Amino acid sequence: MRRQVLVTLVLLAAAVCAAAQAGFVPSTDVLGAHMNYGRGCTACHAPHSGASGNGKAKTADPSSGDSALWGEDVSGLYGKTITTGGGKFVEVLPTSMSATTPDVAGMMTCLGCHDGNYASSAMMRNRVFESLPSTYGANNTIPTLLGSGITGVGNYLNEHPVGLSAKISCGGSSNWDCSQSNGVVSMKGANSSKFVSNYGFFIKPGSYANNAVVVCTTCHDEHVMNVVTVNSKTASGLPAGKYATMFFLRAPYNPNDTNPGSNQTAQFCRQCHADKSNEMNGSSAGTVF
Ligand code: HEC
Ligand code: HEC
Ligand code: HEC
Ligand code: HEC
Repeated sequence: MRRQVLVTLVLLAAAVCAAAQAGFVPSTDVLGAHMNYGRGCTACHAPHSGASGNGKAKTADPSSGDSALWGEDVSGLYGKTITTGGGKFVEVLPTSMSATTPDVAGMMTCLGCHDGNYASSAMMRNRVFESLPSTYGANNTIPTLLGSGITGVGNYLNEHPVGLSAKISCGGSSNWDCSQSNGVVSMKGANSSKFVSNYGFFIKPGSYANNAVVVCTTCHDEHVMNVVTVNSKTASGLPAGKYATMFFLRAPYNPNDTNPGSNQTAQFCRQCHADKSNEMNGSSAGTVF
């Protein structure tokens, strides 16, 4: 009986803690680093005439602006090969902004600024915008140009797998007991649904050839840098409200959490890396904030 009371108290404390996290109030503009040093939305979206509407057309690209009214010239990336995950994931970028694969809006757009090799680095300062806690190293500034970092120009090998060949799978010993239809992942198995109630499934995979694939916007929401909203439409059992995040990540992810025992940043990765989750290893730990 006493033990039951204790368990209830512990559960209650955890719920109170999660509820307190749900009340996060961002104090700076949510567009954050993507205010683009004052240019705002139009740095990415030109209301008229694609990249030429921004004075940024380096080539006469007839598809410029066709996807998301894109206002950067990304023609330097057309057809280029980006090899990630140590060489196992080979992505050949589309040759037009009017291609319909998810790597157009979800990857080529980002690389228009974040490549720094094929695409010019323009106004990029090549350093992380947000202030980082002391748990990060201090030997160098953290780069934001992926194709032109400290490890060499054009080197994508040390990037997390991304592109049409970086597929998210269901079933087996390492994946969630989920199912997929047309690239939409349904987290309805015993373990996957438990994970969704403990944390959530915030990521947004691309859909390619009937498979869920990883693009930049799968993990990042380029419009909101520092906050994530959980409401009745979110696939998450966390108390509804606003949660802190960083780096435009789509899920609660706060390396600045004052509790060194918080696991929220690891939970982010477990959305896809199921075999590394508490649920698949029989631990009752949920999300600790
Ligand atoms: C850093 C670049 C960037 C900035 C800055 C940016 N966007 Fe976007 N936006 C994108 C990308 C990339 C997409 C396409 C995402 C996709 O389809 O996966 C997009 C999609 C959209 C869409 C269509 C899909 C949706 O999410 O509704 C709208 C509308 C939009 N943006 C409006 C805005 C507004 C308004 C602002 C300023 C408050 C803004 N964007 C700032 C990159 C940006
Ligand atoms: C118009 C240029 C532009 C585009 C397009 C763009 N970004 Fe950025 N991004 C920036 C700038 C500017 C910064 C600030 C850092 C810098 O100057 O190097 C930044 C910073 C970031 C950061 C780090 C923020 C932090 O926490 O400090 C992330 C993550 C990021 N961008 C992701 C993306 C993703 C994902 C996309 C595609 C959906 C994208 N960006 C498209 C300009 C851009
Ligand atoms: C599998 C998820 C995932 C994908 C896919 C992904 N990112 Fe990230 N990204 C992250 C995480 C997590 C961080 C924050 C890392 C940390 O805590 O320091 C991050 C950080 C960043 C940063 C800040 C600099 C840094 O190294 O921390 C930039 C810029 C960025 N991402 C851009 C991109 C672009 C561009 C793409 C697509 C080519 C992309 N990301 C794809 C998860 C992802
Ligand atoms: C959107 C789903 C998704 C998320 C979120 C995600 N990953 Fe991955 N990850 C993948 C896929 C897909 C692969 C490639 C196939 C595989 O190995 O399962 C991969 C592969 C990897 C690999 C092996 C790379 C190699 O060279 O073989 C590592 C390490 C990794 N991820 C770490 C992380 C970390 C750390 C995080 C959190 C910051 C994370 N992942 C978040 C989907 C994801």
